[in-house]
Amino acid sequence: MLEEIKSIEIITPDDWHLHLRESPLIEKVFPYTFTKFGKAIIMPNLKNPIIRLSQAHEYYKKIKSLIIPGYNFEPLMTLFLSEETRLKDIYDGVKSGTISAIKFYPQGVTTNSYGGVKDLSKMYNLLEKLPDLNIPLLIHGETTNSKVDIYDREAYFLEETVSKLIEKIPELKIVLEHITTKDSVDFILENNSNIAATITAHHLILNRNNLFDEGLRPHYYCRPIAKREEHRMAVRNAATSGNSKFFLGTDSAPHLDKNKESACGCAGIFSAPNALGYVAQVFEEESALDNLENFISINGAKFYNLSLNSTLSKFTKFKEAIKYPSKIEVGKELITVFNPGYPLYWKNEIVGEKNLIKEKF
Ligand code: NCD
Ligand code: ZN
Repeated sequence: MLEEIKSIEIITPDDWHLHLRESPLIEKVFPYTFTKFGKAIIMPNLKNPIIRLSQAHEYYKKIKSLIIPGYNFEPLMTLFLSEETRLKDIYDGVKSGTISAIKFYPQGVTTNSYGGVKDLSKMYNLLEKLPDLNIPLLIHGETTNSKVDIYDREAYFLEETVSKLIEKIPELKIVLEHITTKDSVDFILENNSNIAATITAHHLILNRNNLFDEGLRPHYYCRPIAKREEHRMAVRNAATSGNSKFFLGTDSAPHLDKNKESACGCAGIFSAPNALGYVAQVFEEESALDNLENFISINGAKFYNLSLNSTLSKFTKFKEAIKYPSKIEVGKELITVFNPGYPLYWKNEIVGEKNLIKEKF
């Protein structure tokens, strides 16, 4: 038996940046999310990106069909910004309550982003319409200019693209996704309340040394790539400060091991099974558990103008390390679960509402 030593109850958290993929992966990875979170922003970068509203409807139905009765999880759908994006899809999607945000990937910046936008200024006419609909533009903020050092691409992008966008459409709500630098933290703090940022669990924990610790670590490779220690600390301070402009987006991004452990391994870290536990542990380490609820359960919903979850979650610290799977199986293939290289002591579950199924995933 694990011995309990500390616990807190907070509003059930949300995940403001999540990749669920398609069959057969989604069936295996999604239970880790719908059993622990109330809502999640679902990324649209499927192999066939979600550009049309009809695709978002289909994907929404698929996701909903996988939720076990007793869980009230709500997927918040996004549309992939492309030169083919139609304003009508956005209008209809927001009006029908299906679409919660638009996602902008610079063309080719990351997994399945080849249909992304090369020059954002071409999309200004469309983006000008978003403030009336009160939905944010979610930005993968890295330049694709290959002459810019990979560790500088996030900072460079702020000047190259985000500043210009804000100047042109100041009333546009923006979320800078998965920020990794002090530059981004400062940028968010210096700008008005229309701009916020998501932060992942792994960027609170990893710096760029971890990628090369005794050899190449493909399971620590993600975009944006982990940065220097001073940047990790800036991001960690922002998250644990409780400031309403920062909220959790795990960016849990499962890939089959064979695709990550290869000559050209793809980007993405699968953290859904343990991201919340490790985040709670980070907040404890920073003596900031009082701010955990802001970061994982309140700030995001407020920014998106959505209601807070009606259930409570209990986070408990145990004396012995919590076991989690190191890999999950998908048919004959495996997906590696994020492991920062030190034990996990925090565990959480939804409590306080109805006859919840206590299955272990
Ligand atoms: C994500 C993925 O695999 O879809 N990868 C990643 O490294 N974060 C895409 C993304 O968010 O960049
Ligand atoms: Zn992502």
